[in-house]
Amino acid sequence: MSQKAQIGVTGLAVMGRNLARNFARHGHTVALHNRSYGRTKELVEEFGHEGTFLPAETAEQFVASLERPRRVVIMVKAGPATDAVIDEFAPLLEEGDMLIDAGNAHYADTRRREAALKAKGLHFVGAGVSGGEEGALHGPSIMPGGPKESYEALGPLLEDIAAKVDGEPCCVHVGPDGAGHFVKMVHNGIEYADMQLIAEAYDLLRRVGGHSPAEIAEIFKGWNEGRLGSYLIEITAEVLKQVDAATGKAFVDVVADAAEQKGTGRWTVQAALDLGVPVSGIAESVFARALSGGKDERAAAAEAGLPGPSAGAEHSGDLVADVEQALFASKIVAYAQGFQQIQAASKEYGWDIDPGAMAKIWRAGCIIRAKFLDFIKQAYDKKPDLATLLVDQYFLDAVSGAQDAWRRVVVTAAQQGIPAPGFASALAYYDGLRAERLPAALIQGQRDFFGAHTYQRVDKPGSFHTLWAAEGRPEVDA
Ligand code: 6PG
Repeated sequence: MSQKAQIGVTGLAVMGRNLARNFARHGHTVALHNRSYGRTKELVEEFGHEGTFLPAETAEQFVASLERPRRVVIMVKAGPATDAVIDEFAPLLEEGDMLIDAGNAHYADTRRREAALKAKGLHFVGAGVSGGEEGALHGPSIMPGGPKESYEALGPLLEDIAAKVDGEPCCVHVGPDGAGHFVKMVHNGIEYADMQLIAEAYDLLRRVGGHSPAEIAEIFKGWNEGRLGSYLIEITAEVLKQVDAATGKAFVDVVADAAEQKGTGRWTVQAALDLGVPVSGIAESVFARALSGGKDERAAAAEAGLPGPSAGAEHSGDLVADVEQALFASKIVAYAQGFQQIQAASKEYGWDIDPGAMAKIWRAGCIIRAKFLDFIKQAYDKKPDLATLLVDQYFLDAVSGAQDAWRRVVVTAAQQGIPAPGFASALAYYDGLRAERLPAALIQGQRDFFGAHTYQRVDKPGSFHTLWAAEGRPEVDA
């Protein structure tokens, strides 16, 4: 009997190629397919020594080379290209076979595809894969959704190639249908928020502290040894240390200051708006990227010479220590919001996602991997229905201990005209959460005045409306 593959990968650009190599390096026979066969041949020529590959020129050959239940990993651009690949392969598959979308698909697309393929007796698994090209090869964090029963046949293979922490794979069945891609999307939203906060910390150290990029690289290197230790802090030190070969200038000074975005952070905010979850940290990071890319309005502002204070005055404390505190507290807020969004979606869609398990599989392999995810895991292991991470003792102590410094940093940023929407919005969120009374009462009054939208009272149940135009403005039951 001709040799059969345990898993197949179609779409052999760098991510797909590296996933295929990773499976092969772990002793699995891997079927290969790509729209152009040349790329398939190249992979085998260059990496055939790493394991057993079964290159297929056609979709039919590819499917025929897979053992049952067939496991087909799709690694193509999210969107129509994914639908095209599904349309090409689904007719060739049989009951119980599975298609695994390892791209950054939108979770709503995954839910649609999973339902459609389930009707044909096929499994569809939307799997978030985080860690970029290096992660795909050496061990990503993998967030597979889809039917629980397909995880029995698929999970062991994914766990083999996933990053490990103390021997534990950074891969777990997240939940049904779109749950995996939803969690990956929120991972990316948190990634955006984390990156924005780091950028604001850099900006303050540069413009208020007068530190050079090389000096700030050393500061981040030191922070990476402590509670802020994470992949993003680590690479920030590397990026800031970099000198541009062509000019001899600091790399960060020759890069155009317009941040781009493929869209997953934007999706996170859109989903949060629909779920009613205030992910202000993620939202501010998406808008900060948009502002940085707003060429016309920034040029107009420059031409008009929008007035404001210049930076560089003395900070009212130890700037480096204060910024570290502000960064850690704001990061905790961003992660608390992200996990609240995962819990809200899990409730909305009936996914039964275990937030502690998500923190656990994010401890390695993914872009937001960080030491403090251990504390998030512990918090949810202690109390899975925790309303917000901010009330877990570890995080409560960390944020309350940071808040004087945090407030000094937000004041300095405002006084010296340095945009710090991440730090400031996180502080506003924290103060909003702990406020005994919010000015939302006035908003309810305004809404009732102009739109008769009714309001509730603090002293008795029910909904009420005031007859604002009537004599004496009587209140009536709504
Ligand atoms: C990951 C990354 C990756 C993501 C890009 C997007 O988890 O490996 O998040 O999936 O696609 O980094 O970057 P932008 O959205 O910033 O373009």
